Amino acid sequence: MVAKINENYHLLKSSYIFAEINQRVEKYQNENPDADIIRMGIGDVTRPLPQAVIEEFHKAVDEMADSDTFRGYGPEQGYSFLIEDIIENDYLPRGIELSPDEVFISDGAKCDTGNIQEIFDLNNVVAVTDPVYPVYVETNVMAGRTGPMGSDGKYEKLVYLPCTAENDFVPELPQEDVDIIYLCFPNNPTGTTLTKEQLSKWVEYARENKAIILFDAAYEAYITEDNIPHSIYEIEGAREVAVEFRSFSKNAGFTGTRCAYTVVPQEVKAYDKDGNAHSLNPLWNRRQTTKFNGVSYPIQKAASAVYTPKGQKEIRESVNYYMKNAAIIRESLLDLGLKVYGGVNSPYIWIKTPDGMDSWKFFDLLLEKANVVGTPGVGFGPSGEGYLRLTAFNTLENTKQAMERISKLSI
Ligand code: MLT
Repeated sequence: MVAKINENYHLLKSSYIFAEINQRVEKYQNENPDADIIRMGIGDVTRPLPQAVIEEFHKAVDEMADSDTFRGYGPEQGYSFLIEDIIENDYLPRGIELSPDEVFISDGAKCDTGNIQEIFDLNNVVAVTDPVYPVYVETNVMAGRTGPMGSDGKYEKLVYLPCTAENDFVPELPQEDVDIIYLCFPNNPTGTTLTKEQLSKWVEYARENKAIILFDAAYEAYITEDNIPHSIYEIEGAREVAVEFRSFSKNAGFTGTRCAYTVVPQEVKAYDKDGNAHSLNPLWNRRQTTKFNGVSYPIQKAASAVYTPKGQKEIRESVNYYMKNAAIIRESLLDLGLKVYGGVNSPYIWIKTPDGMDSWKFFDLLLEKANVVGTPGVGFGPSGEGYLRLTAFNTLENTKQAMERISKLSI
């Protein structure tokens, strides 16, 4: 007998896209120690945590130092104070009613969108929009739900729904039967959105086909236009077919602090081999209680401060700050004659590369000639080839500096 590895890992590309970018940037920096590199690759925030959050965070840490207020393990699903804040502030004002046992606090939407596939059978057919946040794809590869990647950059057995300038970044309903559909709107990486009518078609499709939509709404705070749903539950019937993921990372600066939540309505059901319907909520609860011990008390207290009037004002200021950067990026690149998408309801700007250049070539050009790091579109899937993503999460000064440098390139 020998210990055997999970061979599905061999189906993966050698490294995660953002790890690969870091390696390339580090190599360039080592070779060019004086280069002042501006990072607009990974969507990591730069503004500090809001004051309201920090104050509550400090108070909660002090509580942990006192035997009267110290807390050990908390509920795996999260403390009720935070769950109630979420329901009252993120959902009720939009006419969405949730019960506390439908909201699960976690340490990140990356983990939740990656882990959720565990509660589904390996034979489900999974559909993803293309380009796509790689976590949805790669966690299904790791689990064994796909075959190897073909020369077209697509994993066998996975259904890819192209989102390109040609279809206005609106995915078409699948031609074949699919069981699980990952949707992320506002979209990472393209920064584009779906209207209520467009999202309704997906809910209808899922209801008709007994499919499940895994809806990643991590960027909802960046929506500026009307008629763009902030939650999939704004669409009638979605409670029966959709799980929703939200995060404090991008709206409140928690990328390093880690707090997020997932909504699993009791009505969302999937089927066993005999065709009996089962609610996903107890399955996710079972998974979380076994594999997760909850987010720390100080972090959940810190997250709850997001919902105070001061917290709300501060997070709005941060979002507006980043959206000003987004506008600067959009306008500067449009002025250069580039084709630019997103950046209106999203902190991501999706750029068509000039002269049909491939994504990595454009990445290298920006790194070497402007010392600006983006994310090559092809890293998000084959339909991302010929595009590059910039984030608005850097400082205003760096954003302006980056645009100045890019405008000096002859592109
Ligand atoms: C991104 O750059 O796509 C995001 O930062 C990824 C993430 O949130 O994990």
